[in-house]
Amino acid sequence: MTIFPKNFLWGASTSSHQVEGNNYNNWSEWEKENAEKLARNSRNQYSWVPAKDFFRDQMESPQNYISGIACDHYNRYEEDFDILKKLGLNSYRFSIEWSRIEPEEGKFDQKELEHYKKVVAALRSRGIEPLPTLWHWTMPIWLRDKGGILAKDFPVLFANYSKIVVAHLKNDATKWITLNEPNIIAALSYLEGRWPPQGKSVLLYIRAIHKLISAHKKSFLEIKKIDSNIQVGIAHAMTYFEAFDKNPITIIHKILADWSWNRYFLNRISKYQDFIGLNFYSRNRIIGLKRWRNENKLTSDMGWELYPKGIYYVLKELDGYKKPIYITENGLADSQDRNRAWYIKEILKNLEQAISEDVDVRGYLYWSLLDNFEWADGYWPRFGLVEIDRKTLERKIRPSAFEFAELIKYYNQKASSSSQ
Ligand code: FCB
Repeated sequence: MTIFPKNFLWGASTSSHQVEGNNYNNWSEWEKENAEKLARNSRNQYSWVPAKDFFRDQMESPQNYISGIACDHYNRYEEDFDILKKLGLNSYRFSIEWSRIEPEEGKFDQKELEHYKKVVAALRSRGIEPLPTLWHWTMPIWLRDKGGILAKDFPVLFANYSKIVVAHLKNDATKWITLNEPNIIAALSYLEGRWPPQGKSVLLYIRAIHKLISAHKKSFLEIKKIDSNIQVGIAHAMTYFEAFDKNPITIIHKILADWSWNRYFLNRISKYQDFIGLNFYSRNRIIGLKRWRNENKLTSDMGWELYPKGIYYVLKELDGYKKPIYITENGLADSQDRNRAWYIKEILKNLEQAISEDVDVRGYLYWSLLDNFEWADGYWPRFGLVEIDRKTLERKIRPSAFEFAELIKYYNQKASSSSQ
C-alpha cells in the first residue's frame, strides 16, 4: 500500500511581497505607475477569462493593482502560524524580502534580519518546518537602478545577500530555496513585456536566464561554505506539455518546450542542488506550432485549466534527476471555494501514484496560505486556504482548508499504522 513517507512535509506557501505589506521595492514602484493602465486594459487582458464578469469591478479598479498593506503578514505572522498549526500543517514556505534586508547597497539592516529570525522561531515553536526562499522576485530600488537581474554584478550581489541572510538564520532553517521560478520571472519581465521592466526580447530573456543560473550557483556555494549540511534548491515552475497529435511538428515542439522550459535551468544547475522544488499549476496542449492553455473546460477563476494528472507526468520527468522533490507550490484561484478541495484531493492521489513508482516526493505545500497580491493581476484572484477580508484583513479559514486538514490526518494515520 502506498503511503506518503514518514516526515512528509505538509504545508502552505507565501512570498514576502504578496503578503507582508508596505514593501518598498521595484514592484511597489511599478504598481503605482501602472495601476491605472492595468485597470483600463483589464477588459482586453481578461477577455478570455471565464469568470471575468464576476470580477469586473475589481479588475477595473486601479486599487486592485496596488499591493499596499497586502495581508499585513509582516505584523500578523503569529496569527497566521496559529492557523497553520490548527490545520495540522508541519511546514511553511515564505520568502525573505531583499529590499528590507539590504535597503542600500552593502548596508544590511540588523532589525530586519532579526524580524525573520523571530518569524522562524515562531514557526519552530509551533513545530512547523520553515522553508525560506531568498528571492521571490522583488528587489531593492538601488538594484533595479543598476539593471536588476541584468546588472553586471547581479550574481555576486545575490550571493552576498544570501550569505548574510543564511549566516544569520543558519541554526533555525536547514532547507533553503535560492530563487523562485527563474523561468517565469525571466519570461514575463524580459520576453513578454508584462512585468517590470517590461522587456520584449528573446536575447534579454536568455541573458536573464543565464544571470539567474550564475546567481543560483554562487549563492549555493556561499551557503555551503556556511554549513555544508544545509540543503539548497530552487523552486522551479514546470508545465505539463501534452502533444495532441502525432504530427512530427507537434512532437518536435513538445521536445523543445520540455527541454527549454522544464529542464534547461535544472540541467545547468544539476551539480548545485540538493533537492528540487516543483511549482506546478497547469497543462499546455500542443498541436503543430500552436500551444494553448485550456479549452475552458474545468478552470480556475483565472482560466487556468485544472488538470491534476499533469503533476504526475512532470514528477516522472523530474525523477531522472534523482533528487528529493518538494512540491513548493500548487493551487488555484477559486474565490467561491468550489473546486479547491476536489483539486487538492486529486493532486494528492497523483502524488501517491508517483511515490508508488518510487519518485522521491517529500513534501506538498499548497499555494497559498492566504489570499494575496497576485502580481500584475492584483487582488482579485483568490488562491488562499484562508480568505482575507480586504477591508478589515480579517482571516477566515475556507471549508476546503479543513478538508485538506482531514486528508492530512488520514494520510498521517495511514503512515503511522503501516510503520507499527
Ligand atoms: C507562481 C508564483 C507565485 C504565485 C503563483 C500563483 O508562479 O511563484 O508567486 O503568483 O504563481
